Amino acid sequence: MKLVPITPHIGVEVEGIDLRAPVADDDFTRIRHALNQHSLLLFRGQTLNEAQHVAFSRRFGTLLGHVLTQFLKKEHPEVYVLSNVRENGAPIGNHKEGWNWHSDLSYKTEPSLGALLYALEVPPVEGDTWFGSMHAAWDALDAQTQSKIRPLHATHSYANYYGKAFADRNPLSDEQKAAVPDVTHPLVRTHPETGRLSLYVGEDVVKQIEGLPADEGDALLARLNKHATSPEFAYRHKWRAGDLLVWDNRSTMHRATPYDDVAYRRVMHRTTVAGDRPF
Ligand code: SIN
Repeated sequence: MKLVPITPHIGVEVEGIDLRAPVADDDFTRIRHALNQHSLLLFRGQTLNEAQHVAFSRRFGTLLGHVLTQFLKKEHPEVYVLSNVRENGAPIGNHKEGWNWHSDLSYKTEPSLGALLYALEVPPVEGDTWFGSMHAAWDALDAQTQSKIRPLHATHSYANYYGKAFADRNPLSDEQKAAVPDVTHPLVRTHPETGRLSLYVGEDVVKQIEGLPADEGDALLARLNKHATSPEFAYRHKWRAGDLLVWDNRSTMHRATPYDDVAYRRVMHRTTVAGDRPF
């Protein structure tokens, strides 16, 4: 197994490993360490079925479902489907998921540690995914901004995200809303395994900065989001079928990008690993 860095701030490609078979413990220790150090891992050329995807994902921790239960695979409910494909008149997965910068499940009290996204079918052009290092974004802030935002908290809201991202769909049911109440998280979080700090922001899902007048909070949030999502801290992944990406939600944000969803199919399977409360 060989680890090849992708950019100076984020990402490492893990070469020479077939994830269909159980990964040896010492290899997994290197993989886990690389995730903490580089925040994003790329495994190319995999041919995983759902059970193999789930089995490898479980090595990272307990797996979570999703509030949109209609997009979980029946036989493997740990697998959440992202897709534009419809079968028998119904979508097989959530389309246009994550087309804005976010860290998965930040709307939960205990957001996810990370996710493993496996590409089954991808468009020949576009449909890429951006990943940004929130460690690099934090490190690059000036000292005055760092000390101003260090004590601040923000409200993360799935209802806010859903309302903006899926305005053309049926609203969330009362049951769905009750499952994802708004939560408060620090604007700056500490990686629980490395101690490194990162910016913890996001578009749409972050409703407001708490304790500031709305205008001031909105302007600060817009400035921080613009800074955090600068291409300088980011990597744009051009998918190939068979790619598996693993990312650390405690130190990154990501954003999927549009594609010609009439001409092309995109089918992705995501598993999500449980995490801790940000601090
Ligand atoms: C997501 O998990 O936010 C979606 C990423 C993608 O579809 O590329």
